[in-house]
Amino acid sequence: MKSVASAPGKVILFGEHFVVYGISALLCSIDKRVIVTSQTTDEKMIKIESDIGHIEMSNNSLSIMNESTPKTMKPFLYIIKKTLERFKKDVGIEVKIESEISPGIGLGSSSACCVAAAASITALFEKLSREEILKLAIEAERTIFENTSGADCSVCTFGGLMEYDIKNGFKKINSKADFALVIANSKQTHQTSELVEKVRKFRENNEDLFASLCEQESALVQNALLALEKNDLSRLGLLMSENQAYLERIGVSTGTLDVFIKEAKKTAYGAKITGAGGGGCIIALTDKSNLNQTLANLKNCGECFTAKIDYRGLLDTF
Ligand code: PMV
Repeated sequence: MKSVASAPGKVILFGEHFVVYGISALLCSIDKRVIVTSQTTDEKMIKIESDIGHIEMSNNSLSIMNESTPKTMKPFLYIIKKTLERFKKDVGIEVKIESEISPGIGLGSSSACCVAAAASITALFEKLSREEILKLAIEAERTIFENTSGADCSVCTFGGLMEYDIKNGFKKINSKADFALVIANSKQTHQTSELVEKVRKFRENNEDLFASLCEQESALVQNALLALEKNDLSRLGLLMSENQAYLERIGVSTGTLDVFIKEAKKTAYGAKITGAGGGGCIIALTDKSNLNQTLANLKNCGECFTAKIDYRGLLDTF
């Protein structure tokens, strides 16, 4: 039995970090995917193969995941263990992960991996609902990032534009906004958990400032929703640049990313980091009037490419 699933990566348009403290974030999935192929074997061996590592172990050893288990493999092993338990199966499983998204740069590669793996591995025994797959994917992501808000996995599963807050979960945004993003990857990888911890400390030492930034971010997100509704890209871009200023205040931007943003803003409607920061990528908002010029401005800024919104989300064939 063989099963294939794919899930898109994502960008955070507004609200990263503040989302951890209850503020809404706006996200969209992008047209870059992770593809996971799984198959059952009679060998009772678990084999995982990907660009970032591989592992081979007996299915009996799944219950002894510990400190020495490679971190990158933990979500996949978790999904396999839970799936074999749920369906009471004593078989081997081979998993192959292929990705168009580099890891650790804020484009949701680990969430897309968790979602596509949860769909592909469980479908070997039963096709689950998207809601059930999402739940398993978030649990799997928690093996490497305990405090994940779940926003990334949600948008990777359902696709399109989404508003997310911790209390109410995700809400689809039915916007006809027509934009292209120019993404510049600094190629400096980051650990989301470390950046989230850095912000926690910043908040601890700057309580009033942080509370005020949360309030401003919350108002900004409401304005961004209005701009999206009207497809007002000039306004949306200005709001993105304003969001960047808040992210700089909390210390998650870097000198390199600041330079990228300055270059992008020469022609784009606005620009900001996306995701945890401390490296990773910036996104610049464009349409066909300024896309090529923005790409040209950023040609010396790391690895640069364009992305559109993906409206499909999780696919169990592709
Ligand atoms: O892991 P990244 O770079 O996509 O960023 C996650 C966004 C944060 O707000 C920093 C953390 C979270 O769980 O929402």
